[in-house]
Amino acid sequence: MTEAESPDRAALRGSSHTEWGAGVIRRHHQRKQLDREAQHLAPGASEEAAIGRRVFAEGRGPVLTDLDGNQYLDFAAGTLTQSLGHTHPEVVEALTTQARRLWNVHDSATPDRAELLDLLARLLPGHLDTYALFSTGAEVVEAALRVVQATAPPGRNRIGALRHGFHGKTMGARMLVQWDVGHQAFAGNSILGYSPYCYRCPLDMEFPSCGVRCASLVRKHIADKPNVSALVFEPVLGAAGVIVPPPGYWEQISDACRSQGVLLVADEVLTGGGRTGAFLASERLGIEPDVAALSKGTANGFPFAVLAGRSAVLHDPAAARPGAYASTYASNPLGIAAARATLEVIERDQLVERVRVLGELLDARLNALHARFENLGDVRGLGLLYGLEFVTDRSSRRPAPEIARAVYATALDLGLRVALGGHILRLAPPFTIDEALLDEGVKLLEKAIEQVVA
Ligand SMILES: Cc1ncc(COP(=O)(O)O)c(C=O)c1O
Repeated sequence: MTEAESPDRAALRGSSHTEWGAGVIRRHHQRKQLDREAQHLAPGASEEAAIGRRVFAEGRGPVLTDLDGNQYLDFAAGTLTQSLGHTHPEVVEALTTQARRLWNVHDSATPDRAELLDLLARLLPGHLDTYALFSTGAEVVEAALRVVQATAPPGRNRIGALRHGFHGKTMGARMLVQWDVGHQAFAGNSILGYSPYCYRCPLDMEFPSCGVRCASLVRKHIADKPNVSALVFEPVLGAAGVIVPPPGYWEQISDACRSQGVLLVADEVLTGGGRTGAFLASERLGIEPDVAALSKGTANGFPFAVLAGRSAVLHDPAAARPGAYASTYASNPLGIAAARATLEVIERDQLVERVRVLGELLDARLNALHARFENLGDVRGLGLLYGLEFVTDRSSRRPAPEIARAVYATALDLGLRVALGGHILRLAPPFTIDEALLDEGVKLLEKAIEQVVA
């Protein structure tokens, strides 16, 4: 490694891409393995895996290497999980040390747990001072729903949620979801309010002349329905394509919830841990949730989740019955070790602030792409979380999933991995990436779009 060279750039040397996007893609070993797997593997993989057809063998920082030795800049950070990049040395060290010591003692205390709880107390807003530990996003959302159910005053038997929200694939979480992943919508007990989807405004209005009418309707809904116990929401709606609310949206809704005694339950499974340039997206948007669920960014890709809440809520005897916050992998020592190492690096290296700086750069670069390509209908995001919406043309705004899929596949062939869902691509590079590689990633994306739409 030369003196001026970063470890990430050193990881790229030896790549099949002598220059990004100019390499020959080797596929032989990957095809062989995927054909073998197909004999036994159930279908139903993500679009990303099904279209990409890659076998990833190694990851280091922002770089992935496949089984044939091709390399990729990973702007999906695993699955929006590896905020520190792949196999961050301090997380690897914490996990391997713990792996030699102890793996599972149910939810009994282990030496790292107190450290982790103190760390969470430093990183999270002061009023969220009580925590329960879990292992996946859906699991922590279910735990939040149990708290809501247990503490709901008599007669308050409904839960509010937002259209376009996503909260996981377990049945409780799916009751909050109006659109679903390949299944019929299932809105059992929830009341769904308008999300702030300005690009496809359900009311056919324009911000700011709309006066954020979607929020007034949610507010009215809450005020008119005395049986709502909580509003479960993503502050920035991630899976639906990074929908960022306009100013005023959350102020109106939070005020209504406060005055009606409706609990604010922030699903920060995707946004928590610094992704949007604040430790919680709620902080960036001026929301003070009573309960927040975090997962993806907390342990750098190791299964881990945190339910954070006001002391009065999580200590409520109705919620905190014996075993209420326990499960097979809750308080898992390996998860705790990974989370502690990840969050210590985020705190020590001031990575949340770094996300804001890099986020501005990414915003400028992506807006230039938006100006250039007619089929890129909308570009929006916050911090290092961006959504790119592909359309057949700007006047109809008709979703163009075939373009998104082609851009995704072309970008992979050029050496860039992003996240794909329908007609939307999402970008979520690791917080540790340098400016030059961030730029290179956007250039590869530009080249991919150019190849598809030219
Ligand atoms: C906001 C949000 N909540 C919950 C989940 C479910 O998490 P998991 O896939 O870990 O169950 C996700 C997953 O993408 C998510 O984005």
